[in-house]
Amino acid sequence: MAESFVIQGLKGERVLEGEIPVRGAKNHALKMMAASILCDAPLTLTNVPGIEDVARMNELLEKLGAKVTQNGRTLTIDTSGIHTGAMDSTIASRLRASVVATGPLLTRFGETSFPHPGGDLIGERPIDFFLEGFEKMGAKVEMQEREYKITAPNGLAGADIFFRWVSVTATETLMMAAVLAKGTTTLRNVAMEPEVVDLAEFLVSAGAKISGIGTPTLVIEGVSKLTPQKPHGVVPDRIETGSFLILGALAAKKLRITDCEPEHVRMLIELLSHSGVHIEVEEHAITISNGVGDEHRAMTMKTHEYPGFPTDLQAPMVVYLTQAVGESRVFETVFEGRLNYTQDLVRMGADITLWNPHQASIKGPTPLRGAALESPDIRAGLAFLIAALIADGESTLQNIYHIDRGYEKIEERFCALGADIKRIES
Ligand code: EPU
Repeated sequence: MAESFVIQGLKGERVLEGEIPVRGAKNHALKMMAASILCDAPLTLTNVPGIEDVARMNELLEKLGAKVTQNGRTLTIDTSGIHTGAMDSTIASRLRASVVATGPLLTRFGETSFPHPGGDLIGERPIDFFLEGFEKMGAKVEMQEREYKITAPNGLAGADIFFRWVSVTATETLMMAAVLAKGTTTLRNVAMEPEVVDLAEFLVSAGAKISGIGTPTLVIEGVSKLTPQKPHGVVPDRIETGSFLILGALAAKKLRITDCEPEHVRMLIELLSHSGVHIEVEEHAITISNGVGDEHRAMTMKTHEYPGFPTDLQAPMVVYLTQAVGESRVFETVFEGRLNYTQDLVRMGADITLWNPHQASIKGPTPLRGAALESPDIRAGLAFLIAALIADGESTLQNIYHIDRGYEKIEERFCALGADIKRIES
């Protein structure tokens, strides 16, 4: 049964108050789960968020033959029972992160097959970097029916690979393919997101040889086995952290965001502070406070690879900018379908001009009106929830499965701050 949220708007009043802890990052948990395939002993992960995408990844691993034991936010994954590199088509076609499992499966079994990976409709999401990388490492790539079949019967060999565009999942996948390959692989122009860095550090802790971690070039010397030494924690979700900061700036008197890594959202903190928001940073917490009548200024910003502004925070940031004074300009440089949701904000009363698929300008402040909304993807879905919370009147938000894919029980956590959000069957 599909579910929806019914949200009572706060009419622009900044009344939310309290503390909200950040959960583990979806885009780290899913990759760590894929990394379990490389390990010759069970891998225990802590701080795993209770979200739908993690449940789908569990199913994908179980269908391959892994045994997954869950105890609250702790997962133990034993992949000794996996004997095939063939992924379940239905699950893989709906979960973009499934593509990351191709690296570990190929390097461990010499073959993998999978459909074009699914995920959000935020633009064309090619996998050419993955396929070209595997070919450079000696694999053969074929398209059979609607599935890619990749084989490397003699194992993968080291190669020198330069990514034409910085890609998070391509970096993670080829790094994991290389750790058990023969010889040395050099990956150039890699992603440096905190989740990628932590994945590399985990692999090293399990016996991999990787140098250049946190820089644009990774040099990986293949080893024969990886053995996890201790439970590994999923890093706090910087997209949740950033979304909560934006919610705080728009709708809170005072909000303390805990269990987070402030350095991972430094760009957002800089932008919001520059715009006039009061932010205090502690080691693992951030407090945002608003005085009565505080005004925030418009800005120009662009999405960029880490440490730039994350594309995954672009939609909530646009909601913020509808309430900032002046004209803002936003450049979405990563995905070409990621500003489509703005038409719904316009329906709510926002003054947004979409110049082309990558550029929008926003004039503010404009009060927003409650509306009937549908969540198009994880991040725009959360942005709509925030927009509905600051609007005047009631909103309904359908297709909240998308929100549940990435955020654990979000309505309960926002209600604890004073929001009025009900989950109903629709
Ligand atoms: N690209 C190619 N060819 C490839 C791979 C990527 O041209 O083979 C291009 C993409 O089309 C895009 C750019 O490279 O223009 C960068 O995309 P990237 O590959 O980094 O994105 P991704 O790895 O598919 C991950 C996250 C996204 C997040 C982006 C950018 C996962 C599972 N997904 O996607 O998260 O937006 O990095 O940070 O890690 C989300 O969580 O809502 C989400 C969409």
